[in-house]
Amino acid sequence: NWSMDDFIDMQVESIRKEVGDKKVILGLSGGVDSSVTAVLIHKAIGDQLTCIFVDHGLLRKNEADEVMNALSRDLGVKIVKVDAADRFLGKLKGVSDPEQKRKIIGKEFVEVFNEEAKKMKDAEYLAQGTLYTDVIESGTDTAQTIKSHHNVGGLPKKLGFKLIEPLRSLFKDETRELGEKLGIPHDLVWRQPFPGPGLGIRVLGEITPEKLEIVRESDAILREEIKKAGLDEEIWQYFTVLPGIRSVGVMGDGRTYDYAVGIRAVTSIDGMTADFAKIPWDVLQKISVRIVNEVDHVNRILYDVTSKPPSTIEWE
Ligand code: XMP
Repeated sequence: NWSMDDFIDMQVESIRKEVGDKKVILGLSGGVDSSVTAVLIHKAIGDQLTCIFVDHGLLRKNEADEVMNALSRDLGVKIVKVDAADRFLGKLKGVSDPEQKRKIIGKEFVEVFNEEAKKMKDAEYLAQGTLYTDVIESGTDTAQTIKSHHNVGGLPKKLGFKLIEPLRSLFKDETRELGEKLGIPHDLVWRQPFPGPGLGIRVLGEITPEKLEIVRESDAILREEIKKAGLDEEIWQYFTVLPGIRSVGVMGDGRTYDYAVGIRAVTSIDGMTADFAKIPWDVLQKISVRIVNEVDHVNRILYDVTSKPPSTIEWE
């Protein structure tokens, strides 16, 4: 009779046996899979594991701190955080095509990771949060392309590390359960999916620090209100986007000409298809009022009422 405790014991033992006294590195994204992998391996070999957390400046509000607090401060995982925001924003300057932005972010990510990995000369293993579904999906060429575009794929071969993938037999739900067993906070383990390119694909078109700030702040308000309304675990994904449209508004006795912010919220099983979430009007109203009042240069809020297909979940 299989239990999560048995799984942990078995993995800890097999990781210790495999790694011996060698060093392991892991690319931490802050997502569920890499976080759970990190804590599990840390349980087995402690400081022989070093995680590299690349902060590309496209994370959500407080996200980097939350990850550092939960994993490093509270659970003792060794994490090297690289603040690479300027570098990413520099590379993205003047670029407005979505796929181009994704490519730049992905490439830069690998480069920053490589530079850090090279500094750890004695690392022999690379740990990855590959799940059972990833193993299955990698069976076809198309899936491999999707996977490498969505995640940090292709690292190990180029770098010549031996791979450790302790979650290979687990589904997402089991991974979350394991995460909670290992002491990762509930909110971190159950959080909504967040794309690798982060807020970079939620500022439509060219990314500027000002636009990033609008998306980051409005998104934080949306998340806070969705949680307060108790909707955070039934809505699959919810976030704000900045389409870049400016429109006329009125404030006091003056006219404004400012940005419109879009709200995207969907229910879904696996992200392949999705329905727009029917958030109660009063909750939407509160979110709308707060964003306009609290975020500079926003004077209009739009609610996306399309499903997938024909729309995608993200706007880019
Ligand atoms: P779409 O927008 O294609 O999104 O309906 C489906 C799911 O995939 C996520 N997504 C991404 N994840 N890198 C990622 O890691 C990406 O480039 C990317 N694009 C979309 C999206 O957030 C949703 O969960």
